[in-house]
Amino acid sequence: MTDLGRVLVLAGGLSAEREVSLQSGARLRDALVRAGVDVHLRDVDAGLLGGLAAEPPAVVWPVLHGVSGEDGTLQEVLEMFGVPYVGGVPAGCRAAFDKPTAKALLASAGVRTPASVCLPRDAFADLGAGALVERIVARLGLPLVVKPRAGGSAMGVSVVRDAADLPAALMAATGYHDWILVEQAITGDEITVGVVDLDGAPVALPAVGIAPHGGAYDYAARYTAGGATFTTPADLAPAVSDVAGQVALTAHRLLGLRDLSRTDMIVDGDGVVWYLETNVAPGQTATSTWLRTRRPDRRDRARLRRPRHRHVHAE
Ligand SMILES: Nc1ncnc2c1ncn2[C@@H]1O[C@H](COP(=O)(O)OP(=O)(O)O)[C@@H](O)[C@H]1O
Ligand SMILES: [Mg+2]
Repeated sequence: MTDLGRVLVLAGGLSAEREVSLQSGARLRDALVRAGVDVHLRDVDAGLLGGLAAEPPAVVWPVLHGVSGEDGTLQEVLEMFGVPYVGGVPAGCRAAFDKPTAKALLASAGVRTPASVCLPRDAFADLGAGALVERIVARLGLPLVVKPRAGGSAMGVSVVRDAADLPAALMAATGYHDWILVEQAITGDEITVGVVDLDGAPVALPAVGIAPHGGAYDYAARYTAGGATFTTPADLAPAVSDVAGQVALTAHRLLGLRDLSRTDMIVDGDGVVWYLETNVAPGQTATSTWLRTRRPDRRDRARLRRPRHRHVHAE
């Protein structure tokens, strides 16, 4: 056993991503057990606060995705209990979880993020859906990506190529949030970059390139073994790779995050890096991109000098 004390991994919760979180939690627990840590895995339910008060763990590691786990709720509660925890503080989680807020912050720092419109569901009912839909298409063009204002695992996300499909996409997104974010779709290669605080300084991990086999990086592509091909480090020109690392570090710092985060981006045909969003509790499932990211070691440096290594993961 290490002398870290008891680590409490929190997984599950009640968000739409419960199943993903349970898988993440089990894998994290197994990894900590292998590292000799005294670890307990627990769901979030009405007994949690009593347990924290009666038997405070040395540290809590939340791997809860979506609402209450990533939006700062749990972190606020842990602050009140004075229990140390891994990951972002409440204000940082709130800023990152709310996609329009995160996009606005990054844009103010000169980072490119797709042009967008964010409106509540009620606006479409109150002001007339037809006129708003028409104006959105006139303003942003096509194709568009429609998504819930906050959420994860691509739930409620649709690509709209034909204006006639926009109302249905808006409806699908309102199943996950009362507010809808409509973005210009960026055509290009999807990448994600993890950031870890090491000795107090954030370090960007190598970019992971994501090539979904079905065309879209949707729920099935994310959590089905073999649903996507991941390439680490991503096949990027060195200058683009540097920008991607800088964008992930800027997001980590500007949003006020701590310990770890993972920023999703798209690189277009001109090598421009577009910011999509930052995750404060990156998935740790067998197919999660976080597990493809690590600090570059000697093997990576050798690989960078050789033709790219690709793998379809199938754990
Ligand atoms: N503006 C966009 N242009 C092109 N693809 C996008 C855009 N926004 C999202 N996507 C696609 O949808 C997926 C989910 O979007 P994202 O904003 O990362 O939400 P989530 O929190 O669900 O991961 C992305 O991984 C990407 O494949
Ligand atoms: Mg994402």
